[in-house]
Amino acid sequence: MDRVALNGLLRPKSIAVVGASATPGKIGFTVIDNLIKSGFEGAIYPINPTAPEILGLKAYPSVLNVEGSIDAAVITVPAKFCLSVVEECGKKGVKGVIIITSGFSEVGNRDLENQIVAVAKQYGVRILGPNIVGTLSNSDKMNASFAPFLPLPGKAALISQSGALLIALDAASYTRRVGFDKLVSIGNMSDVNFADVINLLDDDPKTTCISLYIEGFKDGREFIEASRKSSKPIIALKSGVSAHGAAAAASHTGSLAGAAKVYGAAFQQSGVIQASDLNNLFDRTLALSLQPPMKGDNLVIITNGGGVGVLATDAAERYGLPLKFVPAEVQTELKKHMPEFGSAKNPVDLTGMAGNEWYADSVRFALAHSWTDGMVVLYCETAMTNPMEIAQGIKKAVDEAGVKDKPVTVSFVGGERSEEAMRWLVENGIPAYNAPDIAVNAMAALREYSRMKAMATESLGMDIKVDREAALEVIRRARIDGRGALTEIEAKQVFNAYGLPTTATYLAKTEDEAVTLAKKIGFPVVMKIVSPEILHKSDAGGVKVNIKDEASVRDAFKTILTNAKAYKADANIHGIAIQEMAPWGTEVILGSVNDATFGPTMMFGLGGIFVEVLKDVTFRVAPVSHGQALRMLSEIRGAPILAGVRGEKPRDREAMADTICRYANMIVDLADEISESDANPVLVYEETKGIKVVDARIILKKK
Ligand code: COA
Repeated sequence: MDRVALNGLLRPKSIAVVGASATPGKIGFTVIDNLIKSGFEGAIYPINPTAPEILGLKAYPSVLNVEGSIDAAVITVPAKFCLSVVEECGKKGVKGVIIITSGFSEVGNRDLENQIVAVAKQYGVRILGPNIVGTLSNSDKMNASFAPFLPLPGKAALISQSGALLIALDAASYTRRVGFDKLVSIGNMSDVNFADVINLLDDDPKTTCISLYIEGFKDGREFIEASRKSSKPIIALKSGVSAHGAAAAASHTGSLAGAAKVYGAAFQQSGVIQASDLNNLFDRTLALSLQPPMKGDNLVIITNGGGVGVLATDAAERYGLPLKFVPAEVQTELKKHMPEFGSAKNPVDLTGMAGNEWYADSVRFALAHSWTDGMVVLYCETAMTNPMEIAQGIKKAVDEAGVKDKPVTVSFVGGERSEEAMRWLVENGIPAYNAPDIAVNAMAALREYSRMKAMATESLGMDIKVDREAALEVIRRARIDGRGALTEIEAKQVFNAYGLPTTATYLAKTEDEAVTLAKKIGFPVVMKIVSPEILHKSDAGGVKVNIKDEASVRDAFKTILTNAKAYKADANIHGIAIQEMAPWGTEVILGSVNDATFGPTMMFGLGGIFVEVLKDVTFRVAPVSHGQALRMLSEIRGAPILAGVRGEKPRDREAMADTICRYANMIVDLADEISESDANPVLVYEETKGIKVVDARIILKKK
């Protein structure tokens, strides 16, 4: 039923426009005019309190007066009338309501928006908007919006959170030669969100690629689920990437978790490709909508110019597709289609003497060869060649190669004749760009899609035994104490309950207890003040390390207490933690935040100066698969340190990845309790020797 209602929004067979107007210049006029001009073949019902007809169509005072059924109602009446109009739509049995009207949550009028959604829910009506431009579909000949015309026909669909941008991209589709079947303005997302539209478009046979312009949303997990499930490539341009919420963060991790990083992590985990800017969104959308994913890393570049060949080679490295020489037998064959001074290695340089035939023969052979996973064909306009003939030769060769699962992108550099040839290529299904690096970037998107899709479907596959009750008990006690944060000892107890290896740590309330515990742990030990009011223990002189005997334990006990009292006279001191002194290892940091959009989110990075100064950290929305955890280890800039540098043995990456998975599992399981947390430092030892969490911090969620 829900799917029917949603489909009513995107592909209605009958549309009412509530607030239709006979006055040119009003949005209610433009929507009717657009529906007629776009050739909409279903019924159009203008709704207006007084007009008997609008633009030649019979008008009705209310949807309730319409005899036929109505799939979708586009609303263009002022905000204050919307609630009663939606109620009437519900009574009429309208499936989906498209609210163009502004003046709701975007200007703080959240109550009215919520009331409308509540009424719609009562009737099972789905709402797109409010505060949108409308929806457009080429295959349904439907311009149910106030955008001027349907976009250039094509196979992509765009969902935009900005209405103005959607209108601009609509027009730009013609100049950029990137075709769309559907444009969906999503606005305030009071009800229908990105996930809903992604699900719908995934079922839509006319769409091969889904492009998103995102400003920000709430239902992050729904988005991840829908994107992961999608059988079509999704590409997102996310704006507003400056750090947010950092000032309020109580943990190290909290201060490092900017919107860009968390969204970026979520995109990666759900197989969503990113665009760096608007141009890049167009360029990548074109490739993703026309070409298959690139399944391996073997890229062949064919060119008639050394310069563009080098530019493309640089770009290939920059975008994660470094070129390799093609196998010897491929070189031997390619040599037949170039002069003596050409190069068959890769990039394959046919030289400026290359005509249609050399191009066609090389493309046909190299694309069909089993080594090749994808191809970028470059052409510099010369006086001896005709760009259109070259384009036609390339297309014919691609068809004759007979491979449907290897992508091809093209770049022609030249004047108007080259532009015309590229238009022809795009119309014939081959993405073509006016710069070699753009053609390579588009190919990289096809490779990223294939790589990320494989990762996004990876199973979380970890059966972790946990003692949830023990962790909750620790948290309960802290809450009874009226505390918003756990002490180090408590945080470690929670970590232990989730299988995270921590240094043995016990609380001593007296000097004698401290001596007994130190002997139990074994010298040397570390001693630290335990007080909910002293979070920065070292600053308070509350930490002593490398304590080697009983006398030193007694000395340290006294000194730490004196220092703590001097630091904060009224601090509530629980006692002193006696802690195993872990042997040296590579310092890393783990941490978590409860992100407003995506919920529990993990951070990993190298510790010490790397996190303090370089902020060399990476994020994943929890839970985290073992494969993703390993990728976290290898994607930070300091990754070589874990792999072993300067004669040091590699660190225990397996144990580290395992710990990330356990940590992620913990923050999901305790999502209602933990707001932020840090394990800092965590020491990573040589391969097979494991890891140890040395210090722990957990900030509780406010209840
Ligand atoms: N049922 C049907 N029609 C109704 C009605 C009702 N309950 N109440 C009013 N109307 C009619 C009006 O009589 C008018 O028709 P008329 O021209 O024949 O008199 C028509 O609906 C429009 O109402 P009007 O009061 O003239 O509003 P308007 O056209 O000036 O503005 C909006 C209406 C929705 C366009 C405006 O409130 C708005 O929100 N604009 C911003 C939209 C936008 O930019 N959205 C996307 C942002 S990305």
